[in-house]
Amino acid sequence: MAVAHQIAATPPPAPAWLDELALQPGPPWLSMGVRTLELEEWLISDGRFDEELALKELLLATRPHEVFAALAGCEEASDEILELIQAWRAAHPQEGHAASPRADLHPLDAAGRLVQEDLCVMVESDGRYRLEAASLCFPSHWRLHDKLGHSLATIHDPVPHYAEELAAKVDTFFDRLRADRPVQRRNLSIHNHDELFRPGPHESPGSFAPDPSGVDQVWLRSERQTLVRLARTGAVLFTIKTQQCPVVALAGRPDIAAALAVKLRAEQDDLLRAGRTVPFPLWLVGWLEMCRGEPERERERARA
Ligand code: HEM
Repeated sequence: MAVAHQIAATPPPAPAWLDELALQPGPPWLSMGVRTLELEEWLISDGRFDEELALKELLLATRPHEVFAALAGCEEASDEILELIQAWRAAHPQEGHAASPRADLHPLDAAGRLVQEDLCVMVESDGRYRLEAASLCFPSHWRLHDKLGHSLATIHDPVPHYAEELAAKVDTFFDRLRADRPVQRRNLSIHNHDELFRPGPHESPGSFAPDPSGVDQVWLRSERQTLVRLARTGAVLFTIKTQQCPVVALAGRPDIAAALAVKLRAEQDDLLRAGRTVPFPLWLVGWLEMCRGEPERERERARA
């Protein structure tokens, strides 16, 4: 079946966050990608607010140990986070978002139930920042208990190229992060599902449909992450807001499809060379290339 036949005449809407993606192809394969964050724009509240908060409540009721954990000693930092979130929400009131924190819960658990973001607390000990507590209802293929208590370097152990390209930069960045200079970054991954709670292992090419006729079952998942140094306790709060869209939405954004095709082709070649698993279907690059459309190909021919 021709790949072009899989591109819908009316693609689903392409979300605005697609324009925030860093799509430069490797090498280098990883980048810090941090940008200044205006505190005014700290937390995201979108059309899925009620649905996501209800899902958090359900997960916290049915599998509490998988989605919340706190080591002893981070109560003060958690209190500070709860205060910060409450103050931010009081300054940015939204209709229907008026719930008060539950006093019977750990303060980080109470804070996590007020916002769509997941909340991770990084505390410094022996010169390393470690994950000491988290309200993590929407993990993208990792398990809280595998990472709890571990340093940034160990947490990122499974990430190809992290040790040589990023580990030192991230450690220095954490040391220097200032309370008055919060930052944001964004990642992108590709999945065969759009489930927010997905702690199990990453996909492989075989976990997707065998050819582009299954492109409707492929999603882009992006985490809008923020890093905020807590002024009083000195801990670092890492927030994660997960956003998703079907990959077929890129049919409406041929510029992004083209850039993503170049990036994924480089990544795929690098992973295959190293004998590692490619976490997306091998036909996706070809499908994205088809999305570029004739105007983009014309421009490329003119540039060549
Ligand atoms: C400036 C700060 C950070 C940078 C530059 C960074 C960078 C990265 C990169 C490049 C990846 C690979 C996937 C992706 O593109 O996102 C990744 C994965 C990941 N990061 Fe980070 N990260 C940072 C902070 C953190 C923090 C504070 C945590 C604490 C929970 C964290 C937890 C993870 C986890 C759990 C993964 C998935 C690892 C796995 O597959 O097991 N990151 N990070």
